[in-house]
Amino acid sequence: TGYETIKVERRGRVGLITLDRPEALNALNTQLMDEVVAAAGEFDRDPEVGALVLTGSERAFAAGADIKEMASLEFADAYLSGLFTGWEAFTRLRKPVVAAVAGYALGGGCELAMMCDILLAADTARFGQPEIKLGVIPGMGGTQRLTRAIGKAKAMDLVLTGRMMDAEEAERSGLVARIVPVADLLDEAVKLAATIAEMSPVATLMAKEAVNRAFETTLAEGVYFERRLFNGAFATADQKEGMAAFAEKRPPNFEGR
Ligand code: HXC
Repeated sequence: TGYETIKVERRGRVGLITLDRPEALNALNTQLMDEVVAAAGEFDRDPEVGALVLTGSERAFAAGADIKEMASLEFADAYLSGLFTGWEAFTRLRKPVVAAVAGYALGGGCELAMMCDILLAADTARFGQPEIKLGVIPGMGGTQRLTRAIGKAKAMDLVLTGRMMDAEEAERSGLVARIVPVADLLDEAVKLAATIAEMSPVATLMAKEAVNRAFETTLAEGVYFERRLFNGAFATADQKEGMAAFAEKRPPNFEGR
């Protein structure tokens, strides 16, 4: 593999990526971004993988973009290099990605977690967009994804003050799907991803695509888009298998066709 800032492993049909820059609380430098995007892309193309998990350490999912790497940049450096735009490839992954967050998910770390499809938080997780304290604003989608996830009132509160919210508040606000004890976080995340990876791969990708459409279009167009995919699902062997298995009171065996 040859990665230096992440660890990559397969657990059954789950592809696991662990951010691994403990000396910087997993701050997201360019190398780490390139490695995560490359590793996630490989899992996305691997037919043996059905879902991904992205996690960090117990202390930090990621404490943000790497401040030391950014500190001396001028406008033209950031603009011409397309600073952080490499992460857009991560948002184009077609398989579901579970973010397993313990400790700090700040700035770019919170934004990266929000690029994932399901956010699982340890009871120790703390989320925030502290960029304002550095004289900048979120730059990897934070003002948009946080606002869509938790609404204007709380997004403004967090983005304008830079304060952190704990796991309880994050779940109450709709950012986080579930909270689990920190000792169980990785097992629960892999179990969740494995459950997803057992479903029909075609239906799974359709489901992710359809939910994400809700953020890009009107209700009428979104429902129309959903119906096209829904009808298309009846062209798959997995639909026949899934419904036959229900009638025969046995577990389905999806083949991905
Ligand atoms: C670079 C970082 C870092 C970061 C932590 N470190 N966060 N290095 N970039 N974002 C480094 C520290 O410098 C330190 O290195 C080591 O990690 C441990 O951190 P400490 O601060 O000693 O730990 P602690 O006292 O426990 O405090 C934890 C913390 C604090 C509250 C999370 O580290 C912190 O506030 N970090 C910055 C959080 C932040 O502002 N994130 C947003 C970044 S901007 P040394 O070598 O000293 O041991 C961003 C922008 C997105 O994400 C795009 C728009 C521009």
